Amino acid sequence: MKVKQGDLTVTALYTSQVWAWGGLSHAHLFASSDAQHVFDAANAALAAARTPDQELAPLHQSLLHRHAMIDHLLSASGYQQVIELAAGLSRRGAAATSDAQVHYTELDLPHVVELKRELLQRTDEGRAVLARPGLRLVEGDVETVAFEPFVRRGEPVFVIAEGLMMYLTANARRRLFAKVSRLAAITGEVRLVFDLVPTSEDTESDIVGGMVKAATGGRGFERDAPTRDDIVTALRETGFDDVEVVASSDIAREWNLPDPDRRTLVVLFMARASSRATRP
Ligand SMILES: C[S@@+](CC[C@H](N)C(=O)[O-])C[C@H]1O[C@@H](n2cnc3c(N)ncnc32)[C@H](O)[C@@H]1O
Repeated sequence: MKVKQGDLTVTALYTSQVWAWGGLSHAHLFASSDAQHVFDAANAALAAARTPDQELAPLHQSLLHRHAMIDHLLSASGYQQVIELAAGLSRRGAAATSDAQVHYTELDLPHVVELKRELLQRTDEGRAVLARPGLRLVEGDVETVAFEPFVRRGEPVFVIAEGLMMYLTANARRRLFAKVSRLAAITGEVRLVFDLVPTSEDTESDIVGGMVKAATGGRGFERDAPTRDDIVTALRETGFDDVEVVASSDIAREWNLPDPDRRTLVVLFMARASSRATRP
């Protein structure tokens, strides 16, 4: 596998293998030997570096909790219109569109979407998923693509950004928040869910971010989200009127996360904007 400088495909390969390792539905459609190789090599390197926090479960366990938490929120919302930003090789769109009522748009950079299509093309089951009218794979940069064409008027939209925000600067994040909250003017309501561990709580980011930087030839974590309050304030200032924060350690049992007693480090932000609250 060739990696271009700053290319995050390797991170999407790693997470795709986490979903397969965790036994999540539809993950097999995206499994590959490249992903298995990245998963094994990264886990070995992380184990060798050993985290400063010995009680914390390994990264793949945290990611499995993160993914399951977002699945839980999506399913509890009852929303049938979804946009997943930086969807990578996530199996969530394939799983959610098993329900023909769901309209699901996935967005990622062109080479990642191309890889996703290739992986789905390998099997009858994958080709059937690709052919679903409810699933749309869109090539584009979250920072420049307009989201309005993806939404239907008057129908609330659930926007997911998993494993993306740590790669954006605070300014880029704010622009993205504003772009998402503006959708409420069309849909009536928007919910945005994303993960981001504030630097003040993060015992892992030096090791994991350093590894990502080495693997991508230079693109690592931005470290400018100091506290939960900083992120909540940015959401409120960009048009969200209702913001909640939840950590995996608080809800692992209640939300039936896999292996709930493993202590993981996931912080999710859940923000809601409505057309009533959207500024002119
Ligand atoms: C860690 S992976 C996460 C993939 C997926 N969300 C998951 O959790 O399995 C990060 C993804 O973000 C995508 N990405 C990063 N910057 C992006 C941008 N500006 N626009 C679209 N996608 C982007 C990468 O291509 C990659 O697929």
